[in-house]
Amino acid sequence: MLASIFRRTIGILVPGAAVAMSAVMLAAFAAPACAHETLKLDAPKPLLAPTPPMGWNSWNKFACNVSEQLIRMQADAMAASGMKDAGYRYIVIDDCWQKSRDADGNIVADPERFPSGIKALADYVHSKGLKFGLYSDAGALTCGGRPGSAGHEFQDARQYARWGVDYLKYDWCHTGPRNAEAAYTIMAKALRESGRDIVLSICEWGNNQPERWAAPVGHLWRTTGDIYDAWEGKKDWSHGMANILDMQAELWRYSGPNQWNDPDMLEVGNGGMTSTEYESHFSLWAMLAAPLIAGNDLSAMDADTRRILTNADVIAVDQDPLGQQARRIWKQGDLEVWARPLKGGEHAVVLFNRGKAPAEMKVGWDQLNLPAGLKADVKDLWSKKLAKNVRGIYGGTVASHGVIMVRITPVL
Ligand code: GLA
Repeated sequence: MLASIFRRTIGILVPGAAVAMSAVMLAAFAAPACAHETLKLDAPKPLLAPTPPMGWNSWNKFACNVSEQLIRMQADAMAASGMKDAGYRYIVIDDCWQKSRDADGNIVADPERFPSGIKALADYVHSKGLKFGLYSDAGALTCGGRPGSAGHEFQDARQYARWGVDYLKYDWCHTGPRNAEAAYTIMAKALRESGRDIVLSICEWGNNQPERWAAPVGHLWRTTGDIYDAWEGKKDWSHGMANILDMQAELWRYSGPNQWNDPDMLEVGNGGMTSTEYESHFSLWAMLAAPLIAGNDLSAMDADTRRILTNADVIAVDQDPLGQQARRIWKQGDLEVWARPLKGGEHAVVLFNRGKAPAEMKVGWDQLNLPAGLKADVKDLWSKKLAKNVRGIYGGTVASHGVIMVRITPVL
């Protein structure tokens, strides 16, 4: 319920829907005029995301219901469940941790939800060998109606650095006519001058073609409205998993080390899809070189969810150092083949069946620009079966809504 109210708030800000707003309403949402709006970035972007960031964020499961107990529990679970060993690092508190600003304009955390303060919580997360992230917004208010950072960027960035923040997700609600590139550049500059290395996660929902300007500014940028926990569909400005996938197909050329397209956080384990569908979601996000930000309750994770989220072979594709996002190299009706080159001449391929019945699918070496006579070892990354010395073509039966995901290693 709360979440849907907040989502409605966002809705009036997306293009298309914005026409419904009167000029008076727009003015009410406008960020204060900011003298820094023309600032240029002097310091280069720090290399904090050579591979896509991995972690956990509170929003998909808990929305506004965040507290220090919840965050501690998630950090404990990340360390104990095998998620940390699998590579997940960032524990990010999304919206609703903020309450107000004090007389000096400093951001104040909600004292009822975070009685020990943010610094103590960051210290706790760090004590688990994990990294700590927070959320803010380039408008006067966040999407959840809490104080945003407009006009307070440098003050907030210094505060984050004092608290020990390692990652900032920076949203786009209540920004009125603000220019997105300028607004995110200000926060990028503030973070770079804060004295601490802080990943900048740009979240303007792909409204202003961030793929064209965000690479020097942030480490990752959202490319769409919000994901919701469904195989496919569209609800206001949220999209099901398969719909989000379709919106990534043309963006591959913009992604790479330290500059990632972000198709939004994972829904694996939240209950709205089948196990097969969650395998597809996770496989496809890995093919997209997407940030792998889990969005489930880590403290109550079942074995199947853990199996999916900690599949080391799939994670290795996501984290491949070449950092090349997959392309959809073939599509016919409900059947698609996605492929990405990996470092050292290997390839990852997903055979994806959106249809209602199982389907025979294959990939040919010619589609990967490999000689047809080349021998390769092919590992199925879910069944773990290894086929040795395969020549020219590989395939199998793909379950409805399922994938076959393989790693192809030429035998030289
Ligand atoms: C927007 C973002 C979400 C989440 C919420 C918080 O919808 O896109 O990911 O951060 O705001 O209010």
